Amino acid sequence: MKFFADTADVADIADLAATGLLDGVTTNPSLIAKSGRNFLEVVKEICGLVDGPVSAEVVATDHATMMKEAAVLRALAPNICVKLPLTLDGLKSCKALTAEGVKTNVTLCFSANQALLAAKAGATYVSPFVGRLDDIGHDGMELIQDIRTIYDNYDFQTEILVASVRSPVHVLAAARIGADVATMPPAVIRQLAGHALTEKGLAAFLADWAKTGQSIL
Ligand code: G3P
Repeated sequence: MKFFADTADVADIADLAATGLLDGVTTNPSLIAKSGRNFLEVVKEICGLVDGPVSAEVVATDHATMMKEAAVLRALAPNICVKLPLTLDGLKSCKALTAEGVKTNVTLCFSANQALLAAKAGATYVSPFVGRLDDIGHDGMELIQDIRTIYDNYDFQTEILVASVRSPVHVLAAARIGADVATMPPAVIRQLAGHALTEKGLAAFLADWAKTGQSIL
């Protein structure tokens, strides 16, 4: 399972990239606004920090303008993945960009039928938003399971990129289902490594080691 960081904070991205565990980055207009940075500048900088795909989202709502914006984004770096909304114009743009060999991420997916359309449009990734579904009383993971089943039924190559992840519980559930990618806020990625018994056990080992009076170096 690939791990992407869902952020436009370059300090966080650099820190996580240094672990060797980061496979890519996703951004969206809200995350860019939160960063307070110039969109094109910050995305270009992020592209230099990770080898994997960096999703940068168009903000146009019509196909022709989406394609123009996609051309600007593509020129930023070779690892740009153009993020498009799951609308008919977004799908049309996805199909056209896929034909040109561009990586695409179809976002704001909230139903299995939408995910089916994204796959038919040749999307590299589809982004179902599990947290926002949970927020309105639906089961986000049920959607991930449905998409996994449908994609496997037809051997679609579109990768399921679980988005709107709010906790390690979401990551575990997505991994059990066999989702391809989880994009997470940096805090959730760090939470995955933590366990109270790991901390307790390490403290005990270090205390016992100190009693030996030895050192490795
Ligand atoms: O990047 C899209 C998605 O992950 C947003 O998450 O927490 O704003 O629902 P959230």
